[in-house]
Amino acid sequence: MAKLSVKVVTRAVAGASYEVHIGRRLLGRSVGPLAKGRRVLLVVDSNVPATSIGELVGAVERAGKQYAVLPVLTSEKAKTLGTVAKVLEAAATLSLGRDDLMIAVGGGVLTDLVGLAAGLHRRGCQVVHCPSTLLAMVDGSVGGKTAANIEVDGRLIKNGVGVFHQPVRVVCDMDLLASLPERTFRAGLAECLKHGLLGGAFADATLWDETVLAVERGPVVGSAGLPALVARNVRLKAAVVALDERETRDDLPGGGRMALNLGHTFAHAIETLHGLSWFDGRRVRRGTLLHGEAVGLGLICAATLSAELGCCDRGFADRVRLAVGLAGLPVEVGGLPPDSELLARMGSDKKVKGGRARFVVVSDDLRPAVRSDVAPSLVRAALAAIRTSQGRKRR
Ligand SMILES: NC(=O)c1ccc[n+]([C@@H]2O[C@H](COP(=O)([O-])OP(=O)(O)OC[C@H]3O[C@@H](n4cnc5c(N)ncnc54)[C@H](O)[C@@H]3O)[C@@H](O)[C@H]2O)c1
Ligand SMILES: [Zn+2]
Repeated sequence: MAKLSVKVVTRAVAGASYEVHIGRRLLGRSVGPLAKGRRVLLVVDSNVPATSIGELVGAVERAGKQYAVLPVLTSEKAKTLGTVAKVLEAAATLSLGRDDLMIAVGGGVLTDLVGLAAGLHRRGCQVVHCPSTLLAMVDGSVGGKTAANIEVDGRLIKNGVGVFHQPVRVVCDMDLLASLPERTFRAGLAECLKHGLLGGAFADATLWDETVLAVERGPVVGSAGLPALVARNVRLKAAVVALDERETRDDLPGGGRMALNLGHTFAHAIETLHGLSWFDGRRVRRGTLLHGEAVGLGLICAATLSAELGCCDRGFADRVRLAVGLAGLPVEVGGLPPDSELLARMGSDKKVKGGRARFVVVSDDLRPAVRSDVAPSLVRAALAAIRTSQGRKRR
């Protein structure tokens, strides 16, 4: 299969545009030649099998680099400044210079953390992202946002700290997905659906239909169509980033980069909660949602809110719910706290501006907009769309 390539044009730092390579057996050939410097710090998600990075390590060795491999156990709980400090210590131990290279192989948690460490190490060193989940390929590793969670008064603030630090390359090697649990793979489809819902404003009005078709067919790891789907999502994200790299232009038609937060005001309020229950299409699961699962539910809330506000019709909101379900993602969840607590959690989200939570809304013609004038009663109505029937009675 030929390698696909998408260019991400960035302007904040001169000459900082970069390529996203998408294909198979890329790790050994796409990353190696990049490092100008002598040293490489490879930070690898512990759940990525050692055999998957063999070719990459071989390429670094053949290039004569001095290198170290740092395995990192990732989770939203471990997405902390403490983990960033471990990466920084490993970089300092290796005497990694600004021309040297960090390489991150992992999911969105790892690429966010290593991106942040790379932004901080000697005020910024080069980083290559090799995303190993679908979600990190289509979204997390592209666009230069980095993050760690912080805790304030016992409450976890998702992505509460971070810097913008663009990678010098992103390598999406489909072979890395072979070891991914199906649940984690499906979680990535939520960000694909999100991109589809934004397509009309960012030059890809057919992405929504294409994505719904793909989830209907049930895209599987190794399928011939998957690299093209990833490339289309990366192109959409690159188009948004090129317009509004630092998310300062929510006045632009479509809401600029803020549009990529579609569903996320809701998702961030529920994704760190424990003791939830939901049906995954086969059985009832209990525990904490994955980021992508929370995003799927957030998309249903956002579409319901959009219908309440008259931005789209109810039928469209129903179709969003159907698509999330077709992707094998939960469409409702039990054990959510009362609306008042969820509203308070939304109030401490980083998307708050001037004391008001901001919501991205969708329209039937796939042109999002940012709204900060949303009445709490409408947010409650949106939350009711993802509560199980018992939960609706209790709220
Ligand atoms: N920076 C951005 O623009 C951006 C965009 C979207 C999401 N994100 C962030 O991404 C994170 C979610 O990313 P995610 O869904 O990739 O979750 P994740 O990084 O937690 O990975 C999910 C699970 O899969 C495991 N895993 C990763 N690759 C594997 C592989 N190849 N084989 C087996 N197991 C593997 C991980 O260890 C983890 O247990 C969130 O924290 C979110 O905030 C960031
Ligand atoms: Zn997301």
